[in-house]
Amino acid sequence: MSGYIPHEFIDELLSRIDIVDVIHSRVPLKKAGREYKACCPFHNEKTPSFTVSPKKQFYYCFGCGQHGSALSFLMEYEHLDFVEAVESLANSLGLEVPHEQGKQGKKAATKRNRDLYDLMEEASHYYQLQLKSTPQAVEYLKNRGLDTQTSKQFGIGFSPDSWGAIKSHLSHHYTTRQLLDTGLLIQKEDTGKIYDRFRNRIMFPIRDKRGRVIGFGGRVMGDELPKYLNSPETPIFSKGTELYGFYEVRKNTRKLEQLLVVEGYMDVIALAQFGISYAVATLGTATTTEHIRQMFRAVSTITFCFDGDRAGKDAAWRAMENALPLLNDNKEIRFLFLEKGEDPDTQIRKVGKAGFESLLDSAITLTDYLVNTLQARHNISTREGKAHLLNDVGTLLKSIPESLIKEQLITTMAKLTNIDSNLIKKYKLTVQRYSHTDQRIELGQSTSCLSDRKVRLTPVRYAIALLLNEPKLVDYAENPEKIAQYPIAGVSFLAKLLEIFEEHPNLTAANLIERFRGSEYEAPLINLTKWRPKTDDKTVLQREFQDCLRQIRKKARENRLESLLHKERVTGLSPQEKNDLMILLSEIH
Ligand code: GTP
Ligand code: MN
Repeated sequence: MSGYIPHEFIDELLSRIDIVDVIHSRVPLKKAGREYKACCPFHNEKTPSFTVSPKKQFYYCFGCGQHGSALSFLMEYEHLDFVEAVESLANSLGLEVPHEQGKQGKKAATKRNRDLYDLMEEASHYYQLQLKSTPQAVEYLKNRGLDTQTSKQFGIGFSPDSWGAIKSHLSHHYTTRQLLDTGLLIQKEDTGKIYDRFRNRIMFPIRDKRGRVIGFGGRVMGDELPKYLNSPETPIFSKGTELYGFYEVRKNTRKLEQLLVVEGYMDVIALAQFGISYAVATLGTATTTEHIRQMFRAVSTITFCFDGDRAGKDAAWRAMENALPLLNDNKEIRFLFLEKGEDPDTQIRKVGKAGFESLLDSAITLTDYLVNTLQARHNISTREGKAHLLNDVGTLLKSIPESLIKEQLITTMAKLTNIDSNLIKKYKLTVQRYSHTDQRIELGQSTSCLSDRKVRLTPVRYAIALLLNEPKLVDYAENPEKIAQYPIAGVSFLAKLLEIFEEHPNLTAANLIERFRGSEYEAPLINLTKWRPKTDDKTVLQREFQDCLRQIRKKARENRLESLLHKERVTGLSPQEKNDLMILLSEIH
């Protein structure tokens, strides 16, 4: 993180200087092939192992491992902190560092956000007024069985069927920029036209824990698609940390003992209307570890209630995986699957409060859910099936903190497979060095041009390494959004880099390292930047890069196939999925 200096400025700074000049004026460099060399200024040596790559704008010492951008060099060599290093470089170019540092920047951001909260509050108020004057919308809610009191309690509103209603209503008090920042307005990319995001929709305000409106969900009243439209991620709204209904739960429940996690806005609202006031929903995304952390701060029992369909089972599995790191012996997580075709909204209307609560009592524990699902997934009457099951268990167990629950789970698995629990621990729970689930690529002598053969490279990492050496390779990649969806570890980071290079083709590896300074991506990025191709031949690099992408696609297909086959056994497939499966199977041969 670059303090409060905007990364655009860092990009500009690094693109205006040359790391070779910056270092050469302090440590004389000699040209050596494509790079420059010197005796390392950071440790004592007689033969030069300090190298500078003009292409990547990156230095690296093979002797002591020091590395980084021109900024890192100044920080190390002149003992500056990050901001000082930026100022020093900026001074040498006669540039002024934008004044957004430290507390001032923070204050300005707080003020901007305060305005955004006010804006959202006004918007919500406006939508509620619109609901009153739109009989068709009132009728829709009535038909769905919602009473006025509950509707008011959740601040339900209506966005008029107009391209400029919220725009003209709020333009008196707020700038177009602010309206765009909250996602209430959208700007069309090609024409630049600005218009209301939510049109002709029932509006559900999403509140944060303090009750401030931070986003909206909007539902169509008919069968149009998309059924729901949600606010995008904004400076005040982040789907991975917010839970719909959490504010109302805290407000309306005197003694909160448990939380119920459901999938939809209407589920939360219907449950509340029928007296189950402790339900929350994720915002059309998976339940994250952060969501669960927040809930566990408030209660020690969480029940996930999902539809009995395939999507519900997927959502449950994801929630379970994300809950494991937070498990301990004081916490309880349970799962309730409703019958096919039911959701909490329809269910509670059929069985009422007491009926629903007795369903809740029948929810299964996390351990039972995990064991049942794994058992259904693998044929444990064979040795291979047992091994596969233990493999899956191993991955899951590794993320559970030491606890009685974990021990019990191991014991259960031992009984189930007839394999001693100490053996399970030995083979499945000791952390191995290269335990990544990624497939590894063979770096054959003839095809590979990476110099460091000792490091195992996955296709994803290799693609990133190549890209850092030659950002123009981005032209040979397909749509980053598509790549980001591949079910493969690390692929979202590759997609992110592709996106950045696509937008800014002239950035170097050093720019990226600065962008990710202080983040979890910094270390892997630096490691991959250290790699150097043996050749500069563009066609070879291009061929290798395309080969990586091919392998990634292939692996993505295999993973998808595997999960479809598994799902077919466990929960059955939707027609669309059956179709996908047929296509995938036909591609194999
Ligand atoms: P209805 O009862 O039909 O009003 O919906 P629901 O509340 O039962 O929701 P559903 O089970 O269909 O979906 C659960 C949640 O997923 C919704 O509350 C939304 O947050 C989200 N969702 C559903 N459909 C869409 C969609 O088309 N687009 C987006 N972005 N999110 C959706
Ligand atoms: Mn529903």
